[in-house]
Amino acid sequence: MDYETLLVEQQGAVTLVRFNRPQALNALNQQVLDDLIACFAAYDADPGQRCLVLTGSEKAFAAGADIKGMQGKGFSDMYLENFFQGFEKVTATRKPWIAAVAGFALGGGCEVAMMADFIIAADTAKFGQPEIKLGVAPGMGGSQRLTRAVGKAKAMDMCLTGRMMGAEEAERASLVSRVVPAADLLDEALKAAQDIAAMPPVAALVNKEMVNAAFETNLAMGIVFERRLFNGVCATEDKIEGMTAFVEKRPGNWVGR
Ligand code: CAA
Repeated sequence: MDYETLLVEQQGAVTLVRFNRPQALNALNQQVLDDLIACFAAYDADPGQRCLVLTGSEKAFAAGADIKGMQGKGFSDMYLENFFQGFEKVTATRKPWIAAVAGFALGGGCEVAMMADFIIAADTAKFGQPEIKLGVAPGMGGSQRLTRAVGKAKAMDMCLTGRMMGAEEAERASLVSRVVPAADLLDEALKAAQDIAAMPPVAALVNKEMVNAAFETNLAMGIVFERRLFNGVCATEDKIEGMTAFVEKRPGNWVGR
């Protein structure tokens, strides 16, 4: 399927999605939002696709929500339109996906990256929540996800000063899982995605669901949730195959059930 603001290609079981609004440093307007929701829904529904990589350009992953589109809107416009509301659909994606970030990931761009299961950053990546400089604040989950990722001190620092955080600091602060040279970003992200795509698919979904539960529940309930999902995944054919393959010293042949 073609999208106005995204370039999408499939590489085996991996979907590669690139933001494609270079004239606005991939700023997120309504069209990008609509395209992203449709693209992620198509990925989630396609049984042949097992992992997705979302990336931008060398200069910008995405430089935020589209400021020009928001410039003339007041409280009532934003409130009545429930501006940004569709983005929950991206976070509802059940299958794994990775954000591969080079250059600017600011405001909504940083917020979309933080919706990913994990972020791989180029050494050129710059993360920030500079909304305060526009007289506003994060509106797509940034104050919540950034705080959960890096803790209160750094999240307050980022939101209140609007400063950018470079890739090394982002790795130290656990905002990103790895930093790689910019020239290797896409290869590294696609390699990670291919590795995930080669895993037993039910186990991939279960692992993702478990980790995400840690953000929504307390430890005791999270551990019960984990135990029940663990019990459940033990009933899959791929569990029998995985353990048999280990004992027989061969790779597993997954059936996806
Ligand atoms: N919205 C709309 N257009 C944007 C944009 C944005 N967020 N970011 C960049 N652009 C446009 C610029 O207006 C410019 O367009 P023109 O050539 O038509 O003027 C083009 O992209 C290139 O940008 P610059 O000339 O500014 O490039 P630069 O290299 O000098 O600076 C930058 C790069 C530091 C990222 C700078 O563009 C910038 O500060 N952008 C805005 C970042 C920002 O404030 N993001 C937060 C937005 S609010 C938000 O996201 C709310 C939320 O939580 C959901």
